Amino acid sequence: MATNEELFARAQRVIPGGVNSPVRAFRAVGGTPRFIQRGQGAYIWDAEGQKYVDYIGSWGPMILGHGHPAVVDAVQKALLDGFSFGAPTEREIELAEAILALVPGCEMVRLVSSGTEAGMSALRLARGATGRAKFIKFEGCYHGHADPLLVKAGSGLATFGFPTSAGVPEDVVKHTLVLPYNDIPALEAAFAEHGRELACVMIEPIAGNMNFVRASLPFMTLLRELCTQHGAMLVFDEVMSGFRVALGGAHSLFQQWIPGFKADVFVFGKVIGGGMPLAAFGASKEVMSQLAPLGPVYQAGTLSGNPVATACGLATLKEIAKPGFYEALGARTTALVRGLEAVAKDVGVPLVGDSLGGMFGFFFEQELPQNYATVMATDKERFNRFFHGMLQRGVYLAPALYEAGFVSAAHTQADIDHTLEAARESLLALKN
Ligand SMILES: Cc1ncc(COP(=O)(O)O)c(C=O)c1O
Repeated sequence: MATNEELFARAQRVIPGGVNSPVRAFRAVGGTPRFIQRGQGAYIWDAEGQKYVDYIGSWGPMILGHGHPAVVDAVQKALLDGFSFGAPTEREIELAEAILALVPGCEMVRLVSSGTEAGMSALRLARGATGRAKFIKFEGCYHGHADPLLVKAGSGLATFGFPTSAGVPEDVVKHTLVLPYNDIPALEAAFAEHGRELACVMIEPIAGNMNFVRASLPFMTLLRELCTQHGAMLVFDEVMSGFRVALGGAHSLFQQWIPGFKADVFVFGKVIGGGMPLAAFGASKEVMSQLAPLGPVYQAGTLSGNPVATACGLATLKEIAKPGFYEALGARTTALVRGLEAVAKDVGVPLVGDSLGGMFGFFFEQELPQNYATVMATDKERFNRFFHGMLQRGVYLAPALYEAGFVSAAHTQADIDHTLEAARESLLALKN
């Protein structure tokens, strides 16, 4: 049996950094990544047979836990009928109908294979529909790795950002404005200067790529007003928050909190594929009619609406729509976060957390950070040592302080209790 270390060494010989997505390499926290052999329910097992309570859930999709019987059954049946046809199937309609039924205001969707593809296509659609090029994104929000979206904030008052990655020409990001999250004066200033040239504003309404940060209600209210005033589209990237923070995603929550609220374009992923490569973007019928073959905005995909992925997504959506699902998931996640706060208080370590539905975050801080800069100023050293303490005790948290965590319906109170006990020991060890 190969150890994690042996597998990592072998992987690094053939895959850059030994991983197929950078965060898996444990670079932020140090140490050897665990090579996962299998998952069941709330648990994963690594190559050495070590069992972990899984708080990543494949970075969000596994809301039912691993190997849910109804999902496995649906996938197995779909497989026998064929892997991919490159022609339409009935299940694509069913999945589109299921998504639209849960997200009022979104009238049509197109299915794609990854969140990156969905975010990139949503941006192209907003640009095509408005005939404008510029758009705003927020520091700390991730919308996939398409060139115009890989942009970091400039220094000082500069609103136009710089590429975060080599290989992205400055020319490609010259239409991307980057603002701090939850910053009302910055938003007002950007609209005052560029409002009429903006195709859209893209936002993670509940951000999960700078740990867990909610957009404040005054900020979201103003953002909606400014977009409407200036004819810019409000794009809700719900790849992470969709069907995760609530059955109708963050959009349904903001609709409860802000009377008359509605986003213009929606981006989904993760949960709608139940762990298979599947994502989607949507909008009103009028806006979606801009897409090929109806309109001039081109977008396509060989594996889009894949029959096995749609079966997996549909079976997942069916389970999460059952009465009481989010109440139970939310209660479990709250128990975890409040429990972590209580344990930390006992031990004498500052810790504050937040959660919605099955998504959570915690910080070694007194108060919840409101934007990327304050998240990144939290105690990284302490987080990293805590992460490894938890890992050693069989609890797999996200391996970076700027990532959110995920609880699934398979997590039991006993799993939460085990996690809190591990947290107590890990925090005590930090103090010594
Ligand atoms: C909010 C958000 N948008 C887009 C993406 C990109 O999705 P994918 O990794 O499927 O390309 C992610 C991935 O984590 C995400 O969290």
